Amino acid sequence: MKAANKKSPSSSRKKSSAKKKAASPSSSGLKELGLKTGFIVTIDGPAGAGKSTVSKQLAESLDGILLDTGGMYRSVAYYSIREGVTSAADLGKLARRLEFDVDPEAKKLLTNGEDLGHRIRTEEVSNNSSAISKLRSVRTALTSKQRSLGKKWAKKMPVVVEGRDIGTVVFKAAPFKFFVTASPEVRAERRLAQLERQGVTGLSVKAILKQNEQRDKQDSTRKIAPLKCPDDAVIVDTSSMGIAQVVHFMGDHIRNRLLIEQE
Ligand code: DC
Repeated sequence: MKAANKKSPSSSRKKSSAKKKAASPSSSGLKELGLKTGFIVTIDGPAGAGKSTVSKQLAESLDGILLDTGGMYRSVAYYSIREGVTSAADLGKLARRLEFDVDPEAKKLLTNGEDLGHRIRTEEVSNNSSAISKLRSVRTALTSKQRSLGKKWAKKMPVVVEGRDIGTVVFKAAPFKFFVTASPEVRAERRLAQLERQGVTGLSVKAILKQNEQRDKQDSTRKIAPLKCPDDAVIVDTSSMGIAQVVHFMGDHIRNRLLIEQE
């Protein structure tokens, strides 16, 4: 496991006493531990690093919700294709017009009251969402909506917000920040397996490596809010970690910090 906290560690005395108290299973809720429940956890990182699954399971293990901001960019891309919207100004209008929320039961992103599911996971939408996410008009609209949704839900429960610029721009002051990454090869293999499960055939690891490389370049070199590791994030390299291990590590990190703060 490669997990390194870029923040300076807290005093070891406090840490070990917190660890003792946090010995209960990682899947237990925060309420049972008497800990505060309304806060934001940011999870950023490149595509295919396991971010989505980890974020979803972490939200579940904290009895919180997930705000999938990539899904919001994908929704704008999906509607833009459907409605033939192409100019930056009209894409911005479209992003402002769409209504987003989270279904707290199904823990799914709702776009105009609907879970768009697989419709926003196609290659066409993936490529289009990366392209439109460069536009200031779209980012300004979605950043504002993400902040309102995060604040609304964090009054009631933990909110795991997943994306590319969440810890650096959208929720810069969030108390918990993670940057999830993995080697390009591992990310491509995972994506291939995911596509094959969805019935997509005829792709190779090499082809996906190339696609990922292009998308990473686009996401990390764009002028506005590029994909970047926040200075104060915990970096989690998932190349040789299972999902459960990553979720356990993050959950324990959060509980231990909350216990230390409460002391
Ligand atoms: O995480 P994802 O693959 O579902 O994201 C889809 C696209 O949206 C991806 O190209 C990056 C972009 N995105 C972004 O620019 N900022 C975010 N906060 C989330 C996603």
